[in-house]
Amino acid sequence: MNPGVTLRGVRFAVPPKVLTNFDLEKIVDTTDEWIRTRTGIEERHVLNAGESSSDLGVQAADELLRDLAVDKSTIDALIVATATPEMLFPSTACIVAHKLGLGGIPSFDFSAACSGFLYGLNIAKGFIESGQYKNVLLICVESLSKIVDWKDRSTCVLFGDGAGAALLSATGDDRRIRSILIGADGQYQEYLYVPLGGTIAMSGRDVFQVACRKMTEAAQTVIERAGLTMDDISLVVPHQANTRIINQVAKLLRLPEEKMFVNIQRYGNTSAASIPIAYREAELAGRILPGDTILFVAFGGGFTWGAAVVKV
Ligand code: UT7
Repeated sequence: MNPGVTLRGVRFAVPPKVLTNFDLEKIVDTTDEWIRTRTGIEERHVLNAGESSSDLGVQAADELLRDLAVDKSTIDALIVATATPEMLFPSTACIVAHKLGLGGIPSFDFSAACSGFLYGLNIAKGFIESGQYKNVLLICVESLSKIVDWKDRSTCVLFGDGAGAALLSATGDDRRIRSILIGADGQYQEYLYVPLGGTIAMSGRDVFQVACRKMTEAAQTVIERAGLTMDDISLVVPHQANTRIINQVAKLLRLPEEKMFVNIQRYGNTSAASIPIAYREAELAGRILPGDTILFVAFGGGFTWGAAVVKV
């Protein structure tokens, strides 16, 4: 029988610099009121020139391994979800592995935009279930401030920088990923993309509509595959792109809005890092307790999507 794959812990890091909606009012033709009512965002963290996103990933991972008292020599592989790598190569994973002192283990990046955390869970699960590795470190790290057009008010107000780290292990106990799915459809690529060397281009309304539909379908499917119902879910930790998307998904799933964890107010959309950041904040707020069954659901450029039911 396959070993169970446990999400042993999550930590995150964001850069110290905070950019509020009021700061953005001075940069582009926008208002705090527009941003808050259309998106739920109040502020976001952004890297200063010279600060590197790999350092954020290292910070999150260091804290995670220290808090879990995990010896670095037991990590078998490092996978990094990022749509904003520091270089075309070497991968951010190789840079982070070196800084963490994990040299020698397989390390690679993959790109699934805002669905990166779900793709990472699935990759780690496959590695562990195959018996190849026991402990996989997943780092989701984004520096979106470096690829937004700071003159385009329709996109620059939405994004923030940050990193999350998660450890997945074969444990054999009943805390485990109970069901997971990931998907993609490139027919929508022109709705949300960044050309090489360019900045984010997005057709917001189209993204909004498909996101609500795909996130709802993915959530329903993983709950059904886990043999559960919505009532069994303690908390939903969705990708934080827009509170209106999150509320619409809650409505379509017939879930009370209180079951959806939202922290977009302080971070904006941090793409792959958004779910780990939200997960850890929910835990710190006492919204996630040992034994809870959590639903993760994400959607992003590609389009890509994913959902998972995880007992933590
Ligand atoms: O992680 C996945 C990535 N992205 C997403 O999930 C984004 C999904 N989409 C959205 O969140 C929303 O579509 C947005 C927040 C991006 C936009 O909200 P919307 O309600 O769809 O607004 P809109 O794009 O239809 O724009 C409405 C108006 C336009 O003006 P007119 O044409 O009505 O005069 C825009 O020019 O709002 C204007 N506008 C702004 N006004 C003030 C667009 N951005 C801004 C802004 N400040 N920052």
